[in-house]
Amino acid sequence: MQYLLIIATIGGLLFGYGTGVISGAMLFINESFHLHTMATEITVASVVLGAVIGALVNGKICELYGRRYALFFAGTCFTIGSICCAIAPNITILIIARIIVGFAVGISSFSGPLYISELAHAKHRGALVTVNTMTITGGIVLAYVVNYLLAYAHNWRLMFGLGAIPGAILAIGMLFLPQSPRWLVTKGFTDKAFRVLQKLRTNYSLAAINNELEQIKAMATMQLTKHRLFDPALKPVLIAGFGLAAIQQLGGANMVLYYAPIVFQKAGLGSTFAQLVATIGIGTINFLMTVLAIWLVDKLGRRQLLLGGLIAMAITLGTLGFALLYTAQIIAIISLFTYISAFAVSTGCLFWLIIAEIFPLNVRGKAMSLAAAINWFTNLLLSATFLTLVKFIHITGAFWLFATFNLLSFIFCYFLIPETKGVSLEQIEENLRAGKPARKLGL
Ligand code: BGC
Repeated sequence: MQYLLIIATIGGLLFGYGTGVISGAMLFINESFHLHTMATEITVASVVLGAVIGALVNGKICELYGRRYALFFAGTCFTIGSICCAIAPNITILIIARIIVGFAVGISSFSGPLYISELAHAKHRGALVTVNTMTITGGIVLAYVVNYLLAYAHNWRLMFGLGAIPGAILAIGMLFLPQSPRWLVTKGFTDKAFRVLQKLRTNYSLAAINNELEQIKAMATMQLTKHRLFDPALKPVLIAGFGLAAIQQLGGANMVLYYAPIVFQKAGLGSTFAQLVATIGIGTINFLMTVLAIWLVDKLGRRQLLLGGLIAMAITLGTLGFALLYTAQIIAIISLFTYISAFAVSTGCLFWLIIAEIFPLNVRGKAMSLAAAINWFTNLLLSATFLTLVKFIHITGAFWLFATFNLLSFIFCYFLIPETKGVSLEQIEENLRAGKPARKLGL
C-alpha cells in the first residue's frame, strides 16, 4: 500500500506544482514576450481553464477506462505540457501548453482521491486520501522554492520544464499499479477485484476480504442509480458535494495563496525578498497543517474539522481585513497564518475527501467529475475577478466578503454534510438508498 500511495499521490504533486509555479514564472515571462495585462491574465488563468475541461472530461475516462488509466493519462499530458511550456517560442504556444498542463491537473485532482478512497479500508480512508492533499500542498511549496532558486537566472523555462519529472514518474508508475477493485466490479471483473483486494488487505482474513467484495458487488448490481447522475434519490449528496465544491473556493484561500505577495505588500512588508519569504512561509504552514489533518481526520472526524475550520476562517479573515485597513503588520501576518492553517485542516483537504466518499459507486466518477469542475470553475471566476474586486471594495472589503461566505458555508455544512469517519463506502450508499437525510448518511 505504501508504494501505491507514493505513486498515486504524485498526482497531487502535479496539481500543486502546476498551479504554484506561475506566480514566480510570470515575473520573467514578461521579459521574454512583453505581455499586455490581458495576455498576462490569460496566461495565469490558462491552467485553471484547462483544469475545468480536464475535470469535466475525466468523468467519462474514469468510468470507461478506470481510475488507473486516468492517472496514467494525467501524468503523460503533464509531461508533454511541461516540456512544451519550457520550449514555447511564443506566448500563444505557451498558453496552449499551460492549458494542457491544466487539463492534466484537472484529471489528477480527483482521480487521485477517487482511486485511493476505493483502494483504502474504511478505517484509514480519511488519512490515506488526505495524503493526496498533502502532496498538493507539498507541490505548491516545491514550486515556490524552485521559483525562488531560479529567480536569479530569470529562468522561467526551467521552472515549467521541471514539472516533466513528476509527470513522467506518475505515468510510468501507474502502469505497475492495479485497477480499483470497485471499478473492476462495475465492469464485471469480480475475480480480478478479489485478487487486488487480497494483495491490498494483507492483514485481513479471507472471510473479511470476501465480505468486502460481497458488499461492493451488492452495491454495483443495484439498478436504482445505474448511470443516472440526476436521479432524485441522489439529491442530498449532489447538493452536499457540489455545494462543498463552491464553498472550498469561496472561502478565499486560493486568493490568499495566488496573491500572497500582494497581500503581504499591502500589510506593509516592503521588500520583494520579504514578500517572497513570507509567501514560502504561507505555503509551508499550509503543508504542515495538512500533515496534521492526516492524523486528525480519522480521529476527530470530518464534521468537527470542517465546522471548526470554517468559523476560524471567518474570524481570521475579519481580523485580517481590519489589520490591512490600519496597516497593523503583526496582526495581519498572524491572521493570515492562522487563516491558512484553518483552511488546511478543513475545506482544503475535506472537500476532496468528502466527494470521494458520498457518491454511490455507479455514478461516483461522473459526480466527482462535476464536483471538481465546479470547484475549478469557481476558482477561475475568483482568480479572474479578484484584482477588480479589490479595486472596487478594497482588499479589506474582499476579505470581509470571503469571511461572510465562510459563515454562510458553516450553516450549509452544519445541516447538509454527513460524518463519514470509519463508515464503509457501501454503508454510506445503503443509507442514501434508505432515504436518510444528508447529515445522517454516515450513521
Ligand atoms: C486547491 C485546493 C486544495 C488546496 C490545498 C488549493 O490551491 O484549490 O483544492 O485542496 O490547494 O491547500
